[in-house]
Amino acid sequence: MATQEITKVFAASRMVNVRYAIRDLAVVAEEVAREGHKILYLNIGDPCKYDFPTPPHMIEAVIKAMRDGHNGYADSLGIKPAIEAIHREAERNGFLEIQSIFVGIGSGEVIDSCLTALLNPGDDVLTPSPEYPLYGAIMAKLDCPANPYYLDEGNGWQPDVADMERKITPRTKAILLITPNNPTGSVCSRRTLEQILELARRHNLIVFADEIYDKLIFDPHEKHISIATLATDVPIVTFNGLSKSYLVPGWRIGWAIATGPREVLHPYMEAVHRLLRARLSAPHPFQHAIHAALEGPQDHLAEVRDKLKRRAEFTVEWAKRTPRVKLVAPKGAFYAHPSLDIPEDDLTFVTDLLKQKHVLVVHGSGFGEKPGTKHMRIVFLPQEPVLSAAYEAMSEFIRERYK
Ligand SMILES: Cc1ncc(COP(=O)(O)O)c(C=O)c1O
Repeated sequence: MATQEITKVFAASRMVNVRYAIRDLAVVAEEVAREGHKILYLNIGDPCKYDFPTPPHMIEAVIKAMRDGHNGYADSLGIKPAIEAIHREAERNGFLEIQSIFVGIGSGEVIDSCLTALLNPGDDVLTPSPEYPLYGAIMAKLDCPANPYYLDEGNGWQPDVADMERKITPRTKAILLITPNNPTGSVCSRRTLEQILELARRHNLIVFADEIYDKLIFDPHEKHISIATLATDVPIVTFNGLSKSYLVPGWRIGWAIATGPREVLHPYMEAVHRLLRARLSAPHPFQHAIHAALEGPQDHLAEVRDKLKRRAEFTVEWAKRTPRVKLVAPKGAFYAHPSLDIPEDDLTFVTDLLKQKHVLVVHGSGFGEKPGTKHMRIVFLPQEPVLSAAYEAMSEFIRERYK
């Protein structure tokens, strides 16, 4: 019998550059777990895995929507009560010149749609380094090169606006800003935001503002500033959603708010809307939680911020007393991004930490970093006893490794 040759199905060449470091170590973690070790997970930004219960009134709103029969496709841009609630909140927060609001399958999908509708192959977006790797993955999918600008660790991880300006090319279409930031936990100052707007004006760039952690700033005296509240003449698309502040990442509900001059934004928004119509709609019953979330009780937020503040301080204290670890104190979100004074690369460091001490964090190189620097991203969502055990194990690992 003739042997049949196997023809493998190969992925498109652009897939070589599609990466998502946060889940890269999952295979090693599975191996470690199979050997019977209990892993301390400090790697995924999912509050539902820890002591952050979903507000019950949101669950009620979704169950009611299902019972009331809202189980078909929804309007492609989002259901009316949700859009109106997002609009009212944006106005309360001082957003100016709102031109379009649309709901997607997590903010991840609206981010994808907004980049897809904007970029031709070869165009670039100024993205922060370190960055949340979703953006790089989408850009790679679109055959668009990464164009990272640095966040300045020596200046509280503020965007380095001079570096941003140096990096602008004839193909640069947009600037991405993530505040509060994943992975650094930093919050952009008003001055930095104003400088970025100035740059966008001078170079005709659109601004993407990822503000998914806007309600998770620890200090009650430090208010989140949306860049969209500072200008009417710059096209800005602000991303947000229910995943983080409202503790339902599995519901996959996010949105975008486009602000700025109507005539400038019109053709672009029309293209985004076409893409959204092609994919029919975001999950229908879960959209009924948007109004409940934004305009219902907000009691959980104070508690969430309080817990995060304590866990951030706990992390900062550990970093202070640990050799080879230096941490810019996070001000928001649930991430800490300490630098590591180590001879090896940070992927080797975190892989060995996982294998030897069963603590899982993400290597800084997975987010991008200045050449010669090393980091790890810590998710400090777990309760103090878990953090304590993890930090103790990390200290021991460092002590043993570099004696
Ligand atoms: C900065 C940032 N943006 C967007 C997302 C995606 O969130 P979602 O798609 O759940 O709305 C995340 C998730 O971790 C994030 O950290």
